[in-house]
Amino acid sequence: MSKSAEPTAALFAAAKAAQASAYAPYSRFKVGAALRTPSGAVFAGGNVENASYPEGVCAETSAISAMAAAGERRIAEICVMGDGEGLCTPCGGCRQRIREFADASTLVRVAGPEGVRATFRLSALLPESFGPDHLPA
Ligand code: THU
Repeated sequence: MSKSAEPTAALFAAAKAAQASAYAPYSRFKVGAALRTPSGAVFAGGNVENASYPEGVCAETSAISAMAAAGERRIAEICVMGDGEGLCTPCGGCRQRIREFADASTLVRVAGPEGVRATFRLSALLPESFGPDHLPA
């Protein structure tokens, strides 16, 4: 493995562990997300569903909450993992939540259990986005 791939491998492993601990008894679709901050710290989370279906939270939201709780505020890279044939890309709401702490160039990796399937810049997933910089100081 090349040195530059190591941080992504660590994110992949963290996303996989988070997926295993996800709570998804209603959809039966477990998702794991792991993000790395500029300091090198990794935060992860899984989706946590609820009997009141709309109240569940996505894996990306769990990982972002863990990051914020630790006092960190920047996402350098994020990896999202789901099963199935398709790409488990972040939902619209999570794209906006990632946007709050990331840049247009931030890498979003989409993985399946076997490895990373696709990599996007956040700008491709959320073009012409609205963010904190749009609000008056
Ligand atoms: N889900 C995520 O956690 N992240 C995604 O990127 C896509 C969808 C969750 C929400 C819900 O608990 C389940 O997957 C099925 O939609």
